[in-house]
Amino acid sequence: MHMELRNIHKTYETNVDSIHVLRDISCTVENGEWLTITGPSGSGKTTLLRCLSAIELVDEGTVTVGGMSYESASDDERRRFRRENIGYIFQDFQLFDQFDVLTNVIIPQLPDHNWSEIEKRAKELLNLVGLTERLHHMPTLLSGGE
Ligand SMILES: Nc1ncnc2c1ncn2[C@@H]1O[C@H](COP(=O)(O)OP(=O)(O)OP(=O)(O)O)[C@@H](O)[C@H]1O
Ligand SMILES: [Mg+2]
Repeated sequence: MHMELRNIHKTYETNVDSIHVLRDISCTVENGEWLTITGPSGSGKTTLLRCLSAIELVDEGTVTVGGMSYESASDDERRRFRRENIGYIFQDFQLFDQFDVLTNVIIPQLPDHNWSEIEKRAKELLNLVGLTERLHHMPTLLSGGE
């Protein structure tokens, strides 16, 4: 997907200070291009990915992904776009601890599909990453890598 960042800025305000994490970042990623973002801990990699995936909005500048301009879209439009177009593996997983592995994989697709439609595909995907033996484990019982 084509991605375009133009002069983006992102600041986090906390009750103790304010951190200007992204300062005037511009870049273009072409359709099909692979990209690795590296940098020291705390340098803003996750912040950048959160802005690219519309989990957060930038304070200044523009982000356009696959023709979708995040700033001019509604929350609902951004949410739908993310669900349909973006695969995001969170650094801290964001699994639902009260649901088993299979259910965790099914849940993000539930708004648009019914359970039985997705279950087969979810099992295939879990098999692909070697988790067939773990479908009904709870997240707290998994290793970090699993
Ligand atoms: N929600 C938040 N509120 C306030 N400050 C935040 C928030 N999220 C991140 N920060 C701060 O923003 C800076 C960038 O954080 P970020 O998570 O983007 O770094 P990172 O490059 O992904 O680091 P790591 O390699 O450790 O994952 C850090 O100084 C962090 O403390
Ligand atoms: Mg990070």
